[in-house]
Amino acid sequence: MSARITPRRVSFDWSHTPLHWIPGEPTATHVINVLHLLLPAGERWFVRVFKEGLPLVRDPELLAEVKGFMGQEATHSVQHAHVLDHLKAHRLDTAEFTRYVDFLFERLLGERPPLGAPIPEREWLRFRLAVVAAIEQFTAVLGDWVLAADGLDRARADEVMLDLLRWHGAEEVEHRAVAFDMYQHCGGTGTPRYARRIAGMAVTAPVMLYLWVWGTAYLMRHDPQLAGRLRYSLAEHEKAVRKGLLPAWRELGAAIPRYFRRSYHPSQEGSLSRAVEYLRRSPAARAAS
Ligand SMILES: [Fe+2]
Ligand SMILES: [Fe+2]
Repeated sequence: MSARITPRRVSFDWSHTPLHWIPGEPTATHVINVLHLLLPAGERWFVRVFKEGLPLVRDPELLAEVKGFMGQEATHSVQHAHVLDHLKAHRLDTAEFTRYVDFLFERLLGERPPLGAPIPEREWLRFRLAVVAAIEQFTAVLGDWVLAADGLDRARADEVMLDLLRWHGAEEVEHRAVAFDMYQHCGGTGTPRYARRIAGMAVTAPVMLYLWVWGTAYLMRHDPQLAGRLRYSLAEHEKAVRKGLLPAWRELGAAIPRYFRRSYHPSQEGSLSRAVEYLRRSPAARAAS
């Protein structure tokens, strides 16, 4: 087992961060900004689902990790919500979009199944734990990517935003196994447990892709500095990938078949040593300790 997972009480000063925090790269800026649209509601939801699952945890070691995970995700959620205030201060209002994200997590994936669907309570909880584990596969991959993304340094991305992304990314790598272990522990046994894990990913991957494209298009359409001059396009996205400002599609896509392996475990994902090393020098994490 890894060292204890604990939240770091970080804070960030956004007063000097420009709207286009990767200078001259609005597409890459807004593709990454989608994180701020999804994570405040998404990570708050992780914490709620895990709270529901706590009574099922029989292993004290796992229980400690789960509590650390919940503390970290709650902190991430709050810090990304502050970025939304910052975007609003730059006249980029995101409330119209985040309303849908709130609806997704609070209503469709809430404590009761949507539309009164006759799914037993335990099964509904297990399904949502499978969705959290699937999302955490991507947060680990993205976290590992951003820690190594020197394209962002070369492009002189804003240091505060980079620290937020890398502090968060490092904690995602640090706790990458917790949601999976939680799911395995609470998800029953044998083929049903495996099948539900696959179903969790089969739902999560397309929905995430959809939200990402929609979210980027929304941000670019409402960006007052762009004033409608540039729309989101795959060509611009690809250009940013080639500059190392965004992860490649195939890198993200390859995370899915890995997750489908029966022998899969997230401890095989990413570089924990790089994450720990970053947390040692992250300005925000240092100030918090
Ligand atoms: Fe997180
Ligand atoms: Fe996470």
